[in-house]
Amino acid sequence: MSFRTPTAVDYIENVSPGSGALPPRAWYASSDAKCLSLNGSWSFRLSPTADTEDDAFAEPGYDAGDWDRIAVPGHWVLQGHGSPIYTNHLYPFPVDPPRVPTENPTGDHLRVFDLPHDWPSDGGAVLRFDGVESCARVWLNGTDIGEFKGSRLPHEFAVGHLLKPAGNVLAVRVHQWSAGSYLEDQDQWWLPGIFRDVTLLHRPAGCVADFFVRASYDHVTGKGTLRVDSDVEGRVTVSALDIDAATGEPVTVPVRPWTAETPVLYDGVLTTEGERVPLRIGFRTVELSDGLIRVNGRPVLFKGVNRHEWHPETGRALDLETMREDVLLMKRHNLNAVRTSHYPPHPAFLALCDELGLWVIDECDLETHGFTEQAWRDNPVDDDRWTPALLDRAARMVERDKNHPSVVVWSLGNEAGTGRGLTAMAEWIRARDSSRLLHYEGDLTCRDTDMYSRMYTRHGEVERIGRGLDGGTLKRRQLPFILCEYGHAMGNGPGGLSDYQRIFESYDRLQGGFVWEWIDHGIKDERYGFAYGGDFGEELHDGNFVCDGLLFPDRRPSPGLVEYKKVIEPIRFAGEGATTVRVTNRHDFADLSAFAFEWSYQADGATIASGPLPVPALAPGESAEVKLPEPPADVPDGAETQWTVRALLAADTAWAPKDHVVAWGQFPVAARQLPSVTQSAAPVPGERLITLGPATFDARTGALRTIGGVAVTGLRLDVWRATTDNDDGAPWQPDVRHGLVWRKLGLHRIHHRLDAVDLTDDALTVRTRVAPAARDLALTTRYRWSSDGTRLRLTVSVSPEGDWPVPLPRLGIRFGLTEADRVRWFGGGPGEGYPDTKSASLLCRWESTVDDLQTPYVRPQENGARADVRWAELGGLRVEGDPEFWFTARRWTTEHLDAAAHRTDLVPGDTVWVNLDHGQHGIGSQSCGPGPLPQYHLNAGPAEFSFVFSVAD
Ligand code: GAL
Repeated sequence: MSFRTPTAVDYIENVSPGSGALPPRAWYASSDAKCLSLNGSWSFRLSPTADTEDDAFAEPGYDAGDWDRIAVPGHWVLQGHGSPIYTNHLYPFPVDPPRVPTENPTGDHLRVFDLPHDWPSDGGAVLRFDGVESCARVWLNGTDIGEFKGSRLPHEFAVGHLLKPAGNVLAVRVHQWSAGSYLEDQDQWWLPGIFRDVTLLHRPAGCVADFFVRASYDHVTGKGTLRVDSDVEGRVTVSALDIDAATGEPVTVPVRPWTAETPVLYDGVLTTEGERVPLRIGFRTVELSDGLIRVNGRPVLFKGVNRHEWHPETGRALDLETMREDVLLMKRHNLNAVRTSHYPPHPAFLALCDELGLWVIDECDLETHGFTEQAWRDNPVDDDRWTPALLDRAARMVERDKNHPSVVVWSLGNEAGTGRGLTAMAEWIRARDSSRLLHYEGDLTCRDTDMYSRMYTRHGEVERIGRGLDGGTLKRRQLPFILCEYGHAMGNGPGGLSDYQRIFESYDRLQGGFVWEWIDHGIKDERYGFAYGGDFGEELHDGNFVCDGLLFPDRRPSPGLVEYKKVIEPIRFAGEGATTVRVTNRHDFADLSAFAFEWSYQADGATIASGPLPVPALAPGESAEVKLPEPPADVPDGAETQWTVRALLAADTAWAPKDHVVAWGQFPVAARQLPSVTQSAAPVPGERLITLGPATFDARTGALRTIGGVAVTGLRLDVWRATTDNDDGAPWQPDVRHGLVWRKLGLHRIHHRLDAVDLTDDALTVRTRVAPAARDLALTTRYRWSSDGTRLRLTVSVSPEGDWPVPLPRLGIRFGLTEADRVRWFGGGPGEGYPDTKSASLLCRWESTVDDLQTPYVRPQENGARADVRWAELGGLRVEGDPEFWFTARRWTTEHLDAAAHRTDLVPGDTVWVNLDHGQHGIGSQSCGPGPLPQYHLNAGPAEFSFVFSVAD
């Protein structure tokens, strides 16, 4: 006997995509049909379960006077009702598809609206929801018009017959959990609500219904063929091309093609009897030919990023300005591609990609990753009962987005295992739109796809794939390869991007990749600055794994984005001699006519001459040896000199102003002279202090006390860094996770034993043994101080004892200064750089403040090192390195940094802690990928390095 009887809420747990909605179709804005945005302030009531409240609220006349107000679009959990939950792949509810928990937060939304006075009385009307998570039931004026799932997909309802001129009552009941939630297990916050627009569209008699703009380009003839298929007959005009054709009729004319580099759009109009619809037409042909993804006949190299929709205050409810900012930031950082991980974005984003030029992999709203916990048993994509829901999702994506030239690839979804449902989606998509390629990463056989795609594959394997040595099915061996995710940008990093790029560029089969991911999904929060998983008391969560973007949550570019921009720059400079520079155009389509070039010449990091550099308008793939001018004659004696060359935009573009720097290169000329100090001063022992040149030392311990009157505290060897997310690594990574081993060895709690303080005629030498408790490992460390009377040289000699099983985090010295704010240095900048993240580090003279040296990772961790520093000045001291060093300064200790969970835990103390490092371990991307390549390991071995201190001018 069953006690459970069907109720009015059974649709929630039904595998069907819903009922009542119109068939999916193209998303467009009409030129003349009226529309009414229903965005704005709605009445809102939250219930703990799906059926605690009755449906009476949907009836006209219902008094919702005591309800709260909520902003639509929006997520109720970000507006004071309940809390967000973050899980990577675990379902935050028991896995028993399609059943969901009884505790199913349900938001009733109510909006009363009048039609505008000029709303036509004839024709129909459509109510469109662009995105509701995860399941909604809709009533208009008391009539139940249907219910739907598919959170990031549009749903439309015919409502003309229900509308009245005034007092229309739109009631929407939204359930956080539904059968659809099983298909939406993307790694992100679970955020229920009506988070995209709600719009009422007038549908005049004879209006456009659905249409498909097919605009191809023949690179041999230079002609484009346009055919607009339309459900309702009409005419298509494109005035710039003199096109005036019937729908369904192909027209071939000479055109300029659309590419991400040259996003030429032609304005057209589709006119039916009742409506005009503006078209933005981009002619391009995408094909798989000779095993390569080609657009307009040429292979493309994706320099991409995975983009989730994110705003730190509004979650996945994004305004147009934010979407535009994303595209502008991408273009300004040399990106050419975006994967809409892992669902179709707001359609306005795709319009921006059309307009400004980005290749798009449009991904369906599908992920069932949590089933991996049960070895994919019961996976909906391999269960025919779910196939209608999968096909519905595929159709809603393709139909909505099919008219965007930027969309070159459809993706079936992400991390959904394998199964018949995916094949059914692929077959449906191919039948509907053969003009684009298909992507899905989860099936290694590539049964349904046009490209072999992987994520986080290590460099060596990517290279083997490039050489065609990866085996696999016959089909797969003939396909091009992309990394749909790589370079996990969590915290400090990702490291190793330049090494990937070098490999991509070496093998035709490798067509680039998409860094994971665009933006940290931190939630603005009074307590923490930005909150992440666990900050809302979730019973299951994945911590700051949700903060793994190239932008901080407030859209400030992280050093990772600056690095990526440099690594993928479309113009390359190479130079060995001092007289010429080799310029290579690495665009796939554009020549160099849009760029201006300039040279400059630096002596000790200061620019002493500059001028324009004439570079021919090289075609894509071409190189030229370009002559540099005569170097300036008036260079100070012994100065380190170099050329810097830059490619800038020659004129304003739609995405950046004139003079925006797209690419640069630097070439050394005269090498740096290392600082030398004659050891002419002798240490003078006093009762409590030893004096040596400008410095004083503790007579008992040999500890440095002052340099030229500047107090220096706690100077000693330092090997610890506040582990980065990439040091700590993800638990599922197969390799040794260095951060864990470092902590196990005790490198964060190391002891310094004083063995001897020796005075000789020319030096003060302090001998120590630096070692963690409970271990027999040690670094025998000798500090040797000498001086010429005004300058002070410290030489640190380190020799490891015992078998060090892992590289060191860092190797250098640290000390404290009481007063320090402004910082000047000659070295890499302006931002941080580590061994495998310093391509963008520009050798120059820089100035900053201690505060501005910090990189604000959402979860604090090692950051802010400036690479290749020749000298630095702060707190009244000048330090020169022999050899160059890594420079870091912060208002808290490494231990504080290490202990902090949020930025708000970092409280400035009285001391500025300075690290001068001889070495830093690489960064890698082991938070979800490979660790640093061996060449970036800081292996423990004998080392010697020096610093020369003096009083700054
Ligand atoms: C991938 C997944 C992404 C994200 C990433 C790690 O496996 O496709 O959604 O989880 O790993 O941040």
